[in-house]
Amino acid sequence: MYLISSQEMLKKAQREQYAVPAFNIHNLETIQVVVDTAKELGSPVILAATPATYSYAGTPYLISICKQAAEIHHFPFALHLDHHENLSDIKSKIEAGIRSIMIDASHYPFEENIDIVREMVVFSHKYNASVEAELGRLGGQEDDLIVDDKQSAFTDPDAAKEYVERTGIDSLAVAIGSAHGLYKGEPKLDFQRLAKIRDKVDIPLVLHGASGIPAEMVKKSISLGICKVNVATELKIAFSDALKQDFNIHPDANDPRHYMQPAKAAMKKIVEEKIRICGSAGKL
Ligand code: 13P
Repeated sequence: MYLISSQEMLKKAQREQYAVPAFNIHNLETIQVVVDTAKELGSPVILAATPATYSYAGTPYLISICKQAAEIHHFPFALHLDHHENLSDIKSKIEAGIRSIMIDASHYPFEENIDIVREMVVFSHKYNASVEAELGRLGGQEDDLIVDDKQSAFTDPDAAKEYVERTGIDSLAVAIGSAHGLYKGEPKLDFQRLAKIRDKVDIPLVLHGASGIPAEMVKKSISLGICKVNVATELKIAFSDALKQDFNIHPDANDPRHYMQPAKAAMKKIVEEKIRICGSAGKL
């Protein structure tokens, strides 16, 4: 079985104080970049896809490509459900072979959030699938998930303890000031809050919205308990900027096997950089 859960990877990262990078992928090329680069650097990796990506690419296609990539490289990794909300959709994706999920019920009141996540944990654990959930609410935009400043909320450490105990989740996404998408100014992370959460909660913690957060801040958050670092926007920007630049230089280009190469190379640089920041190279 090459598509694995995130559980063992994240537990090892927690023990050894590094983070596993989770990179959002969208198609064959972005999967190739992430898998090839992680394998080259000997880094464990999570390939994340939002509901919109599964709809765009088709779940069977994404699963098949990822399984194939893992087999070709003899490299087990997790294909992950990023910010999934629909329970029957998640269940059918687990039945189709995915073993790493995030159920996002963070927009519900505390008790409802717990009930929804608990149901998902019971189901997922029968398949040995790992479950991540979010408490508090991250701001910003990822696909059609848009959370404005008024709706966003930081994770309360005491509530986090109760939440983890009552849901039985395997990892917790924390809201400590990071946001999905680009930051307007310099991002500010609440490290004191993160340390308090780590004090109360013993499972791997997850940092969403890592694009645009300076390396030193990501490293500090890893030293305080973050075990999974999610990156999407920076990869998309690198890929599409290189593509645009290539078309500017070669306006008549029409062969995807050629014009995709600079885009893949640009994305690879970001993947390499993030793996180094996470400290996950050589941790396979
Ligand atoms: P960014 O797009 O800000 O990197 O966030 C990615 C993320 O958190 C995926 O869940």
